[in-house]
Amino acid sequence: MSQQPVLLPYGDPAFVTDPFPLYRQLREAGPVRRAVIAGGLDAWLVTRYEDGLAALSDPRLSSDIRDAADPRLVAQLPETERESMMSNMLRSDPPDHTRLRRLVSKAFTARRIAELRPRVQEITDRLLDEVVPAGRAELIADFALPLPVTVISELLGVPLDDRYEFQQWTDDLLVRGERPPDPAVMNEAWRRMRAYLTKLLEIRRSEPADDLLSALISARDDEHRLNEDELIAMVFLLLVAGYITTVNLIGSGIAALLAHPDQLRLLRDDPELLPDAIEEFLRYDGPVSPGIARFAREEVEIAGVSVPRGATVLIASAIADRDPARFSDPDRLDVTRRDNGHLAFGHGIHYCLGAPLARLEGHIAIGTVLRRLPDLALAVPPADLNWRPGGLRGPLRLPVTFKP
Ligand code: HEM
Repeated sequence: MSQQPVLLPYGDPAFVTDPFPLYRQLREAGPVRRAVIAGGLDAWLVTRYEDGLAALSDPRLSSDIRDAADPRLVAQLPETERESMMSNMLRSDPPDHTRLRRLVSKAFTARRIAELRPRVQEITDRLLDEVVPAGRAELIADFALPLPVTVISELLGVPLDDRYEFQQWTDDLLVRGERPPDPAVMNEAWRRMRAYLTKLLEIRRSEPADDLLSALISARDDEHRLNEDELIAMVFLLLVAGYITTVNLIGSGIAALLAHPDQLRLLRDDPELLPDAIEEFLRYDGPVSPGIARFAREEVEIAGVSVPRGATVLIASAIADRDPARFSDPDRLDVTRRDNGHLAFGHGIHYCLGAPLARLEGHIAIGTVLRRLPDLALAVPPADLNWRPGGLRGPLRLPVTFKP
């Protein structure tokens, strides 16, 4: 099928603020649409739920960027660091994926994560203690960002004092907007990040502690279950995946509630609804938007459309999660919604490793904000929230007022 690619207009503030009208048009226009996505890349968007679910467990669709035909995809990664950047589980297929994921899966089981509850609550309360007396806050910088950064840093054993540096490098490494990222900026950011992680590993090698970093070092040095590139790539992935999306879940969730006072009231009146509400925030406006990339290892037919070998296939979870064939009244935020099998954490072998942690943090963060900040209201018009353009979505700022 020859289609003119649709441009996702990341330069248009109206689209960045609210992409859902265009998402809807794309879904209604067909199950597979060619589109120019963030970074100016050409992709085949899978827009409907059932097709998305099937594509996410289709072994012909690879997670390894080296299976992509578009040379820009690999070229935009810093040249000297390609191997180490591509050696993480998110970008691997079995058997490497299976081996790498197994190394850390025990640390992220629902049971292990539940043990973190008191500590996550303590960090949450401490952050809110700082803002409560003022009666106003910028909830991203003051709260939604430092909470998951602190939690993942503690879990891994990364010194919290270093967070400003690694946040800056991570920001430089993220693809956003319409234009391809600047390779020089990315190169420099990765060089610094890699040097930082190498030094951190050296320190932990000489002083092991009861943290994930030390456990991974032992898997590398004593058991030879991963190589040094993979070790660095793993720590980087866990550190970055461990906070960047969760900030967006907390920010988008609170923004959605402030835009829907009836749902806010329901949740305040019945905090038991919180677990369902978190799933609904993920479905309604999830942090990964429009979705999850794969590369066609061979020519593949998806919903009757032939996708050529090497094509980038973007399983558009954020579009599929509003598919009326799967969700009733899908454009409505409904914190009482049940049977919410959204795709915001993906599906299949790469299903988000950190989902139990993200849910715990989202639950505690939003629940505590509702309990401790009465009369919560936006301090700016909703159009001024400044949403992050690109493959990750969430408000970059969330100024609010409340009763101190
Ligand atoms: C994978 C979303 C939080 C670690 C994924 C995937 C998605 C996702 C969609 C699948 C990607 C794919 O199939 O290619 C999210 C969202 C989060 C979140 C929406 C927050 C609301 C976290 C946290 C961690 C984490 C807190 C903690 C370390 C990972 C890892 C993978 C992953 C390691 C790769 C799993 C694999 O390849 O097997 N995440 N994530 N995520 N996530 Fe998350």
